[in-house]
Amino acid sequence: MITKRYDRSVLEQHPAFEIAKPSAELLAKTEAVGWPDGLLSRALALRTDQAEINIWLDNGFPTTAMIKDWVTTAEHLASTTLNVRMATWADGYLISDLCHNSPETVGDWQVVVERGPNAYAQFRLQEHPYVVIAADDGVALGIVSRSIRNTCIGGERTTAHFISGWRVREGFRGMGISKLLMQAPGPGTSWFALASYWYVRIDNADKAWVDKVTSDMTDRPEGWAAGADQLTATITHFNDPDQGSLSATARPATEADLSRCVELINRTHQDLDLFRPYSIDYLEQRLNDPAWGPKPSFYPSVYGWDQFRVIESDGEVVACGGLWDRGRDVRERWTKPTTGETHTLAPTALMDFGHTPDAVGVAAMAELISHFLATTATVDGGRSSMMAPLEFSPDIIAACAHLDHNPESRELHVMGFVSPDLTIEATVTRPYTDLAYW
Ligand SMILES: CC(C)(COP(=O)(O)OP(=O)(O)OC[C@H]1O[C@@H](n2cnc3c(N)ncnc32)[C@H](O)[C@@H]1OP(=O)(O)O)[C@@H](O)C(=O)NCCC(=O)NCCS
Repeated sequence: MITKRYDRSVLEQHPAFEIAKPSAELLAKTEAVGWPDGLLSRALALRTDQAEINIWLDNGFPTTAMIKDWVTTAEHLASTTLNVRMATWADGYLISDLCHNSPETVGDWQVVVERGPNAYAQFRLQEHPYVVIAADDGVALGIVSRSIRNTCIGGERTTAHFISGWRVREGFRGMGISKLLMQAPGPGTSWFALASYWYVRIDNADKAWVDKVTSDMTDRPEGWAAGADQLTATITHFNDPDQGSLSATARPATEADLSRCVELINRTHQDLDLFRPYSIDYLEQRLNDPAWGPKPSFYPSVYGWDQFRVIESDGEVVACGGLWDRGRDVRERWTKPTTGETHTLAPTALMDFGHTPDAVGVAAMAELISHFLATTATVDGGRSSMMAPLEFSPDIIAACAHLDHNPESRELHVMGFVSPDLTIEATVTRPYTDLAYW
């Protein structure tokens, strides 16, 4: 039992509670750029770091209008029970409940993307992920997820900011929740990302909102304005798990296989934009899910060594890949209100695959895909289907022609970065898809 209580009067009477007076330099700078009366004191009342404001003023970015908007929002949030913050382990149920109640309209369909029992499963597979949640009195009203990842675009190494999972609860749309999520600050320890990218389902009914967000992101003062490109990314769905055949030769991978697997994965995808060249450490981290050592049974596993397989030929690994049981934690419930039709997609997903380019490697990869499809039929009573990112592997698609499959495309939006001293064009032409990000 907590016996000591915190009394707010102690805080209010403490010298640390006083708002620091603005420096003469800051006063002069805000006057010079024409900040409206009172804006500086309002920003300081929010305990904004004066050094930070100095940096904004020196750069001319964010603009005065953006700062005013941000201050007004922060003041509003400080006076309501609505808060917008980093989601923690304690918010898993809130996120599952929110997603259950936040359908997306796609053409004639309503799509509910259910997340749970582990609401964070997909995000945990991403690099440097965090979820921002808007919640009022324990009711989640919106989320967005972000991941900051090293990647290559046009053969150049850079750091990308991946945005996904936008959901605002039905009944709370059009009230500015997505704007609050957009403006929420990220973790102080976050890496700095340059290129940004996000997927949008083709026929998403909120396309006008996507355009609005894109124009808000690209509407920057001179010297900071980067454009956004739009292209498509495509994956393959294998629809009938009963068509798969368990392979007699696919075996679990061991530490000793990692170096060869990294070589195969990099060879297979090395020319693609948004691919992150693997290292042994990186693959090992994914397969360790993601930390070293054994874990207790109550810690939900997502994907790892148990799901990763290799196939050898003449004593050498020629194909490798993993199967993430995505459908356990991420399911799409499609409903057509006009007819009442409904179906659920609870797929598995092909991860971390690579193979030798010759006929032996291609056949081994197809064998592994068929093996994973057969596994899909049995995992936890059977999942609906299997997703595989094969857009740039026509040889593998051809080798899997006997397995019923169809493509799914999404819009891929990519935005570069422009500042007075650094420009990243971020021209993506052949996008690699990691299903952890789809
Ligand atoms: C799309 C979605 C996230 C928008 O969230 P929201 O909280 O309702 O949006 P906001 O109220 O913050 O609106 C932000 C801006 O977009 C505009 N906007 C919002 N929805 C819009 C729509 N459907 N069409 C056009 N503009 C829209 C608002 O007018 C506002 O403009 P402003 O900046 O000029 O004021 C929400 O509707 C949703 O969860 N949809 C279902 C899931 C989905 O489709 N997610 C997107 C996947 S890419």
